[in-house]
Amino acid sequence: NDFCLILAGGKGRRLWPCSREKCPKQFLDFFSTGKTLLQQTYERMTGIVPEENIYISTNHEYEHLVEEQLPGISRERILSEPIFRNTAPSVAWATYRIVHVNPDARIVVVPSDQAVFNEDKFRENVLAGLDFVGSNDSLLTMGIKPTRPEPGYGYIQMGEKAKAENVYKVKTFTEKPDREFARMFMDSGEFYWNTGLFLANVQYLRECMKKIFPPVFRKIDTGGHPVTFEEELDFIEENFPAFPNLSIDYGILEKNDNVYVMRCDFGWADLGTWHSIYESMSKGDDDNVVIGSKVVLAESSNNIVKLPKDHLGVIHGLDGYIVAEKGNVLLICKKGDSSALIRKYINEVQIK
Ligand code: GDD
Ligand code: MG
Repeated sequence: NDFCLILAGGKGRRLWPCSREKCPKQFLDFFSTGKTLLQQTYERMTGIVPEENIYISTNHEYEHLVEEQLPGISRERILSEPIFRNTAPSVAWATYRIVHVNPDARIVVVPSDQAVFNEDKFRENVLAGLDFVGSNDSLLTMGIKPTRPEPGYGYIQMGEKAKAENVYKVKTFTEKPDREFARMFMDSGEFYWNTGLFLANVQYLRECMKKIFPPVFRKIDTGGHPVTFEEELDFIEENFPAFPNLSIDYGILEKNDNVYVMRCDFGWADLGTWHSIYESMSKGDDDNVVIGSKVVLAESSNNIVKLPKDHLGVIHGLDGYIVAEKGNVLLICKKGDSSALIRKYINEVQIK
């Protein structure tokens, strides 16, 4: 009864110029491990739910990348969106699909831009989470204890304890607070990072979707009556654009009263921004992080450097910078809160 939806349709713009709109981060072998982030996520999930129950949610633009990177995956398991609408509509489509395949399904939704350091614990936590949502009509998020005031994540405030190990009712949810709030949240000890993973049983999710997306969801929801794959694709082409642009966090978690969080400690990092990657990696001399190529660093500290594999970097006297090169673009930018700047320059230079 266990199903998984891997979200792999984002543009990954905050990791430009390495992550490009034509090939975003989830399709890159970012750390030269021999596997892309999507392949790693997929492999992780095959150890937890039956492989044929793993669906990949992406955009038409990236469908070919999914097919290349997961060879042999059937067309039916790729939910390819005709237009970018963020993640809540992706979950709506998966709900509609899975309720047809198995009306008793328990679903785990996972992003594809994350690192997990303790796979055994991860598996244990996800299985416990699936059990929880199998017997509770609720949404269950997975939280990690913050180790720094990271403004790039969502924060979950824990309320009263539920009747399951390490599970708490969610009191508040704050998506991407500024650094000051993030620090207060962290210091209070009541807040956990939202990992972006969440679980629910398909019937409950279907009820949520009806409420969040009237009338679009009602239109595509046939209540479990059979439709052919081709009919489903036609529905989606026609109706998906009518979904509002909404993330799971704003659209589903913040709007629902029945949300729980499981305190987890599987060792986790979101690979969202240069800053969050820098923070989550082990540092070399002088707190520099070099990814995937040879770089000579002298009198330099606190930098993150990623160059093409066969390039040599020589850096002298640089402190607190991102140096990232891919194809025809080189970015050198102060590390701090670089995401907004990067967005601005992508628009200015028009190389996406
Ligand atoms: N199918 C599909 N369609 N997938 C998408 C879309 C879309 O339009 N947009 C984004 N995704 C995928 C991304 O590829 C990624 O795997 C996942 O959804 C999450 O999107 P991000 O854009 O990476 O979200 P975020 O990192 O800013 O924030 C979320 O994750 C954080 C932790 O990783 C939030 O859930 C935060 O609260 C959370 O802390
Ligand atoms: Mg992310």
